[in-house]
Amino acid sequence: MAQIFTRKPLELLLKEMAGDHRLRRVLGPIQLTSLGVGAIIGTGIFVLTGVAAHERAGPAMILSFVVAGFACALAALCYAEFASMAPVAGSAYTYAYATLGELLAWIIGWDLVLEYAVTAGAVAHGASHYFQDLIGIFNLRLPDGLTDAPFDYNAALGKFVSTGRLLDLPAMVIVGAVTVVLVIGIRESASFNTAMVILKVAIVIFVIAVGVFYINTANWHPFAPYGYTGINFFGNTLLGQADKGGQPLGMLAGAAIIFFAYIGFDSVSTHSEEARRPERDVPVGIIASLLICTALYMGVGAVLTGMVPYNTIDINAPVSGAFKQVGLTWAQLVISAGALIGITSVVLVTMLSQARILLAMARDGLLPTNFFGEVHPKFRTPWKSTIVTGVFAALLSSLLPLRLLSDLVNIGTLLAFVIVCSAVLIMRRTHPDVPRPFRAPLVPLVPIVGILTCLLLMFSLPPENWLRLGGWLLIGFVIYFGYGRKHSVMSRFLREEITEHGVSPAGAPVTEN
Ligand code: ALA
Repeated sequence: MAQIFTRKPLELLLKEMAGDHRLRRVLGPIQLTSLGVGAIIGTGIFVLTGVAAHERAGPAMILSFVVAGFACALAALCYAEFASMAPVAGSAYTYAYATLGELLAWIIGWDLVLEYAVTAGAVAHGASHYFQDLIGIFNLRLPDGLTDAPFDYNAALGKFVSTGRLLDLPAMVIVGAVTVVLVIGIRESASFNTAMVILKVAIVIFVIAVGVFYINTANWHPFAPYGYTGINFFGNTLLGQADKGGQPLGMLAGAAIIFFAYIGFDSVSTHSEEARRPERDVPVGIIASLLICTALYMGVGAVLTGMVPYNTIDINAPVSGAFKQVGLTWAQLVISAGALIGITSVVLVTMLSQARILLAMARDGLLPTNFFGEVHPKFRTPWKSTIVTGVFAALLSSLLPLRLLSDLVNIGTLLAFVIVCSAVLIMRRTHPDVPRPFRAPLVPLVPIVGILTCLLLMFSLPPENWLRLGGWLLIGFVIYFGYGRKHSVMSRFLREEITEHGVSPAGAPVTEN
C-alpha cells in the first residue's frame, strides 16, 4: 500500500538530470514557443471549428474560444510553475510523481498517452481531410474505401455503425512519415517544425486578412442559436439544450469541442530537459504560444462564421470550404495546402512529446525500461518509444473517426489539467521552500478556478466520453498492477531498504516529507 503513495523526491528528480543518457539541451525560447504553436494550431482550428459552429454553438463559437482559452491559461500557469521547478522530461507525469504519489503519477502518465498519442491520431484525420480537399481542387479523388474510418458512433442509436469505408489511408501515411522524421533527431525535428510553424501562422493570418472582406454581419444573427450553456451530468441535461442523441448544445458545448484546438501548449513542458534555460524559457514558451493562438483563433472564428451561415459550414474542411463558398478557389488552394502542412506539424510535435513521456515512465520502471527507455546511440532520440507511438497513432487514425478521438482526448486532457492544478495547490503546502523560478499568480485562486473551469468543460462534452475515459483508465490500472507496481524503481528501492535495514515502508527514506 505504501508504494502507491510513494513520491519521487524532487531532489532525486533534479539529481537524475545530471546522469548519463540525458537528452541534449539545444532548445531556446523561440524554439520552445514554436514547438508550442506547432502543437497547438492544427485540426482544432482547421476542422473542429466547423463541427463546433455547425452542430453545437453557431457564431457563439467565438466566445467558446474565450472559455476554452481561459481554462487553458489557468492550467498553463500551473504547468509553468511545475515546469520551472522540475525541468525534466515527463511533464505532468513527473510533477504528479513528485507530489501525489506513484499511482496517481501512473494514472496521469497513462492519461497523457491518451492526450498525445490519441491526439496524433485525431490530428492526422484533419490532415487527411485537407489532403482530400486539396486533390479535389484538381478533380482527383481517392477510392472511397480509403477516405475515412470504417466505424462511427451514432449517439442517437447509442452504438457504433459502419461507414462503409475501409480505412483513412492518408492519415496512416502521414503518421508513418512523421515517425521516420522523429527517429532521426530532435535538432532536425525542431528546425523542420519551425519552418512549418511559420507557414501555418502565415496561413491563419491570410485567412483572417482576406476573409475579413467577405464577412456578412447578417451571418452573426442569431449569435447563439443553441444558447450559451450546454451542460450534461452523466446523461442528464443540467443546463441548456441537447440534441436527439442527448449531446449537449450551446456555447459551452462548443467550448468543450473546441478545447481540442488549444491542446499542445503543455507539450512545451515535456521539452524542459532539452531546454537550454528551462526555468525561464519553458514558462515563456507556454504562455507566449497560448496567447498567440488565442488571438488567431478568435480571428478565424469570427471570419468563418461571418463568411457563411453557421448551418452551411462544411464540417470536413471548413476553413477552405468557406472560401470556396464565396467563390475564392485560389484561396481555397492556398489554405488547403497550408492546412495540410500545418496540421502535419501538430502530428510531429505531439508524437515527439509522447515518446518523451514514455521515456520518463520507463526510467522510473513503470514501463519496460530496456525498451521504452532506450535512447538511440547515434541520434540520441527515444527511438523505440517513437516507433510504438507511431504504430499506435497510425492504427487509431486509420480506424476510428475524428470526433470520437478528439472528444476522448479532450476529456483526458481536462482531467490531466485538473490534476496539475491540484498538484500546484498540494506542492505549495508540502514544499513551500523549494525554489520556484516561475510562480503561478494568485494561488489558490488560479488553480481552484482552473479546476472548476476544466470540470465545467468535462461536463459539456457528450456524456459517453466519461465511460470511455473510465475504460481507458481501467486498462491503465491493469498495466500498473500487472507490471509497473512490481518493476518500479521506487518499489525496488523500498524493498531493498526493508530487507537490508529492516526499515518499515512508512519509514523508508523514499517516502519524502
Ligand atoms: N491543438 C491541436 C490541434 O488542434 C491538437 O490540432
